[in-house]
Amino acid sequence: MSVGVSIKPLTASDGGIYRALMLRAYSEHPEAFTSTFEERAGKPVDWWTKRLTDPTTVTLGAFDATEALIGSARLEAFQRARERHKVALAAVYVMKDYANRGIGRRLVEEALGASRRMNAVEIMNLTVTADNLPAVRLFSRMGFQTFGREIRAERSEGAYFDRLSMWRPVSADYIA
Ligand SMILES: CC(C)(COP(=O)(O)OP(=O)(O)OC[C@H]1O[C@@H](n2cnc3c(N)ncnc32)[C@H](O)[C@@H]1OP(=O)(O)O)[C@@H](O)C(=O)NCCC(=O)NCCS
Repeated sequence: MSVGVSIKPLTASDGGIYRALMLRAYSEHPEAFTSTFEERAGKPVDWWTKRLTDPTTVTLGAFDATEALIGSARLEAFQRARERHKVALAAVYVMKDYANRGIGRRLVEEALGASRRMNAVEIMNLTVTADNLPAVRLFSRMGFQTFGREIRAERSEGAYFDRLSMWRPVSADYIA
């Protein structure tokens, strides 16, 4: 169970722990993220802090009972005038030791709640590697529907991976 786990927005002072968490995510699940460990390991803490303080984004952290950061999810609001009704959900991650306890679900629920507080946001979308079944199941359970598949969206070590595009309205009344 996710009892004892709290979800809260990360702030400027969390750059170091966010960097450590995401580097762990890229090395635990290289197939799940477009960014690679190698690309991101070279970025200094300041770069991560800037991500957390970017006003067009919200980064949520999941903390265990000892206040250790064990998961995260990120919202990135679209900026162009005709796209301001949309927000992207990205970088959803729960450390392996804490998986299957409902923390991923809580992160997505809190992300939906945060998006309802963002001005004029109506739709959340995301992309996910097509064969990442735990993630696709989580997003489907949370009301996301698949609207597209990018064939060979990524290539790694000679292998290709398709990515699904998924969406849902952010309204609490919406049921997929
Ligand atoms: C995908 C991911 C975020 C899911 O996180 P999670 O915390 O394990 O998710 P949940 O616990 O909410 O749900 C996972 C499973 O646990 C089950 N579960 C949830 N609460 C539970 C509980 N209290 N007891 C037992 N099982 C539970 C869910 O039913 C679900 O099962 P299913 O996948 O067979 O349907 C996590 O596996 C992860 O970080 N993966 C790598 C990164 C990644 O793929 N990110 C997405 C990129 S788009």
